[in-house]
Amino acid sequence: MELRIRRLLTMFVMLALFFVALGCEKMDRSLQPEGKPVQNTSFLQDEEATSKEEKIKIGFSMDTLEEERWLRDRALFKAAVESLGAEVEILAANGDDALQVLQAETLISQGVDLLVVVPHNAEAAATIVKKAHLAGIKVLSYDRLIKNAEIDLYVSFDNERVGELQAEAITKIVPKGKYVYIGGADTDNNAHLFKKGVFHVLQPLIDKGDITVVYDQWTKNWLPSNAYANMQEALIANEGKIDAVIAANDATAGMAIEALMETGLAGKIPVAGQDAELAAAQRIVEGTQTMTVYKPIPTLAEEAARLAVAMARGEFIDTDRKVNNGKVEVPSVLLPPIAVNRSNMDETVIADGFHSKVDVYKGETR
Ligand code: GAL
Repeated sequence: MELRIRRLLTMFVMLALFFVALGCEKMDRSLQPEGKPVQNTSFLQDEEATSKEEKIKIGFSMDTLEEERWLRDRALFKAAVESLGAEVEILAANGDDALQVLQAETLISQGVDLLVVVPHNAEAAATIVKKAHLAGIKVLSYDRLIKNAEIDLYVSFDNERVGELQAEAITKIVPKGKYVYIGGADTDNNAHLFKKGVFHVLQPLIDKGDITVVYDQWTKNWLPSNAYANMQEALIANEGKIDAVIAANDATAGMAIEALMETGLAGKIPVAGQDAELAAAQRIVEGTQTMTVYKPIPTLAEEAARLAVAMARGEFIDTDRKVNNGKVEVPSVLLPPIAVNRSNMDETVIADGFHSKVDVYKGETR
């Protein structure tokens, strides 16, 4: 008797368990969209997986993180892309062309929806564009132009205007005299644009015989140590008799000022830079550097992110400017740079929160 009751009980429990499991299964199906195979029981995970799949993924191939600004570009671009509901994978090649191509191939093989590139070498990066297009991926050239390639969009500052602003500021102080030009890396198309802008302003004064450019050299790989060597060479070649220095960015200007410091000329010779680095802003308020060109990186990063995500979503991007890169007329967005010296430091760089007043004035209240 007892045995029979126990068997009945066991069967009852088994049956109950079976129906419970069946019940759950049914509930699951009823919440799932029609026709979707159930991967597993937690539909929430499915939902996340689906939105992750459809999420736009941007690949960002950077040349370097050496200069202060690139760290800002990286952080701001990432934040801007994510605020648009997309995701971004960022790789930096430390000034190595082969590594940059390899990293771009990695991003392409990961199936990014769009590739954003800051090229180390304007010409060498053309191969990255070819590889991306073969994979059906469009390319946005960020800050620096890729040459001789069918890029889809170029977003930067008006880099010729950067050079003009530098030369306008210095020729106002030194309308006549001997000039030293410390250029950027000749592999970087921007360096050529900066120089073109500088000489656009200097040439008429050179033609009049008012100004002589006694030294003019590129700075290999934008390395500050190369800029220092250039400036030393210029001082030796001209027995220290120079009247003004225009350096392509603040990192190179800082090293030119180091060399001037060693010959007691720092603060006596006007020096122009670019990028509004903190150290440069400090030198400007102290008086060893005359000016810098401020390029509001948040504007560049946000605009590039907005256009990158829109293009990745298949939207047509129309721009009012085109830049010829030797192969095509590239649709371009060029943002205005701003000349900054001691007199407008507060209402530009500090007002924008690019640097704090405490940092620029090193805690002194002015
Ligand atoms: C340029 C850029 C500058 C500068 C330089 C060195 O292309 O526009 O802001 O810092 O590269 O990386």
